[in-house]
Amino acid sequence: MKAIADLHIHTEGDPEDFFVKIKPSWVFSQANKHGINVLSFTHHDHIPYSRELAKEAKDKGILLIPGLEKTLYKENFIEGKRGKFHLLCYGTSAKVLQPLLDMQTEDELVRYKQKHKDKLFFCFAHPYLHYYRVPSKLLKRFVDSGIIDAIEYHGFYSHIPFLVLNDNKKAKQNAKDFGVSLLCNSDTHWKYMFGRSKSHVEVDKLSVVELFSKMRIPSSVEIFSKPHPLIYYVGGAILVYLAGVLEVILGRSLR
Ligand SMILES: [Fe+2]
Repeated sequence: MKAIADLHIHTEGDPEDFFVKIKPSWVFSQANKHGINVLSFTHHDHIPYSRELAKEAKDKGILLIPGLEKTLYKENFIEGKRGKFHLLCYGTSAKVLQPLLDMQTEDELVRYKQKHKDKLFFCFAHPYLHYYRVPSKLLKRFVDSGIIDAIEYHGFYSHIPFLVLNDNKKAKQNAKDFGVSLLCNSDTHWKYMFGRSKSHVEVDKLSVVELFSKMRIPSSVEIFSKPHPLIYYVGGAILVYLAGVLEVILGRSLR
């Protein structure tokens, strides 16, 4: 059977992106329209998973995977760099994700991932998106040390004739070169974003463990994505970039 997943969604209650007003129930109600049967809500440094939400999803035929979008600071991983980048962390339970909230070093991540490798799946979020951009060698290091299982093909891109505004080309090449899966997600913050980007995964049954195991096989994952309307892309890109630059100048998070 086919799992059709969007594993990067922000909803109401995200402690960082407070402007997001999307309710989980709205996402569940829309998922069927787009054929999506696997979801993960990934708040910034917060795990929005609960049994009640999982039950609500299940009643609509959807598998809800516990997840979060973890912030990591470049200075702890790349000499001479400042800023931050994101790691999408998924677990078989919210409990196995909880200790990640306090981790900030590569060593901690490697050890924890190794210890719980069947219960965790990590995806490097939007590695070439504006201010969050990291060098390819960091991705390679994360693949080699077993921290990441996949690299994200990020739904936030656009194009106009003769000009492709898509940061994902390099991510796609990296996934191929490093032998890991490419996972396509919407990173929904506004309603229009949901349903535009998803990954198809061939699975024997719809369970978290089965999905993690199949998502680790690059040939089992097929990605589908529609570019953003240009006006939304330009507006969003300017906001993300300015917020990032200001955060570096001020040395603290604005949100
Ligand atoms: Fe995100």
